[in-house]
Amino acid sequence: MNTLVLTAHPNLASSSVNRMWFNALSTVEGVTTRDLMAVGGPEMQFDPAVEQALLREADRIVLQFPFYWYSTPPVLKAWLDQVLLVGFAYGPGGTQLHGKELMLVVSTGGPAESYQSDGINSFSMLEFLAPFQQTALMVGMTYLPPFVLHSAMSRDRTRLNSQ
Ligand SMILES: Cc1cc2nc3c(=O)[nH]c(=O)nc-3n(C[C@H](O)[C@H](O)[C@H](O)COP(=O)(O)O)c2cc1C
Repeated sequence: MNTLVLTAHPNLASSSVNRMWFNALSTVEGVTTRDLMAVGGPEMQFDPAVEQALLREADRIVLQFPFYWYSTPPVLKAWLDQVLLVGFAYGPGGTQLHGKELMLVVSTGGPAESYQSDGINSFSMLEFLAPFQQTALMVGMTYLPPFVLHSAMSRDRTRLNSQ
């Protein structure tokens, strides 16, 4: 299985969790990692043909990001808007992602118990991430259960390395 990991962090060098994930995943056979800020630059401009070719080769696509204001860093939105185009991902002839898997890997600052109806964040992570679930449905992908690491800033780095 070919896995493509798209890492969306505004500054991976200053990151703790997402940088560790990126570095660890970069050593795994069958996994291609891609730092979207490094690819798109400060203008967050992507070449759809290049990105789409990578997507075609992948069986599983992983979107990896820190949770920012209940959403993703802007570089992932820019990538989605520029790459998931009509005729490729949806619409007439837009079947290129059919049958592939989509998985989210997300770090949050808030603890797990804050992501529930009576918690400070009111909603579950599955609810916050629903737009991705529907995007997967829309483009014919299988939406895998997301992997969420809560309380990211207070994690012990030694333990993170072993997780
Ligand atoms: C601009 C910004 C917005 C954030 N918004 C949220 C949020 O909505 N919910 C949350 O739990 N954490 C939030 N955080 C905390 C980040 O999710 C946390 O810093 C990140 O997951 C740590 O990953 P990193 O070490 O790879 O940067 C926010 C952080 C920043 C800088």
